[in-house]
Amino acid sequence: MTDFLKLAEDIAREAGAMLLAERPTMSAAVETKSSPTDVVTALDKASEELIRARILAARPDDMILGEEGGATPGSSGVRWVVDPIDGTVNFLYGLADWAVSIAVEVDGGIVAGVVNVVPRGEVFTAALGEGAWLGGSRLACNQDVPLSRALVATGFGYSPERRAVQGEVLAAVLPSVRDIRRGGSCATDLCSVAAGRVDAYYERGVNYWDWAAAGLVAAESGARIGGLRGKAPNTELTLCAAPGLFEDLHGLLAPLDPERDA
Ligand code: IPD
Ligand code: CA
Ligand code: CA
Repeated sequence: MTDFLKLAEDIAREAGAMLLAERPTMSAAVETKSSPTDVVTALDKASEELIRARILAARPDDMILGEEGGATPGSSGVRWVVDPIDGTVNFLYGLADWAVSIAVEVDGGIVAGVVNVVPRGEVFTAALGEGAWLGGSRLACNQDVPLSRALVATGFGYSPERRAVQGEVLAAVLPSVRDIRRGGSCATDLCSVAAGRVDAYYERGVNYWDWAAAGLVAAESGARIGGLRGKAPNTELTLCAAPGLFEDLHGLLAPLDPERDA
């Protein structure tokens, strides 16, 4: 596990350094994906190519799932789950919450995760059963926060229809919590739960590569991460908070039917 974590961290740092160096020269031309606001830059692709090349140089038989490059088969039972830039819109605008996210899965379970929040110079790491760390500091999420005093991070999808519903759900959540934050990077939001910078997180529509690494960081900080009604975290809805607040936020969200798109 230590070897996986070290390799993942080395690669996430190298990709982060490349992105930081290349960002000022980035062309304004961006392509769009699922909607006009869902952008991908040449540097998302360059970052993933670098990460894939480094993984395969060290571990040629491993599988890789990357947001930009899809699935690469392998025979070792180890799969790397990569978001080469989580928070591309922030990256584009020069905001600080974007990250390189790399997780390692063995036989279907995540055992190591690294989230390099590059502009902040913060590298979050976790290995299964070995805690969540920010550099040399062990992380513990906030405990015993009542829902009414919870600072809750969330995010919105790229389709206008989905956003309309997300706005409705948010309008119902807002009066019951301390406040809402929309940082723009799911991976960073989950690391913020781990670091006690927010108390909770929920979002509809996030993908496995968004939360694979940061979900382990959050879980190792003592948080619970899951979907609605006992499900594992999933694209329909992902929720994260310390036990107690998790259930309270779940109780607020579930009757609002936040998994719908209309
Ligand atoms: C996005 C970010 C954002 C979340 C979106 C994700 P991307 O990832 O995590 O916070 O709200 O759902 O798609 O597109 O920047 O990799
Ligand atoms: Ca992402
Ligand atoms: Ca991405």
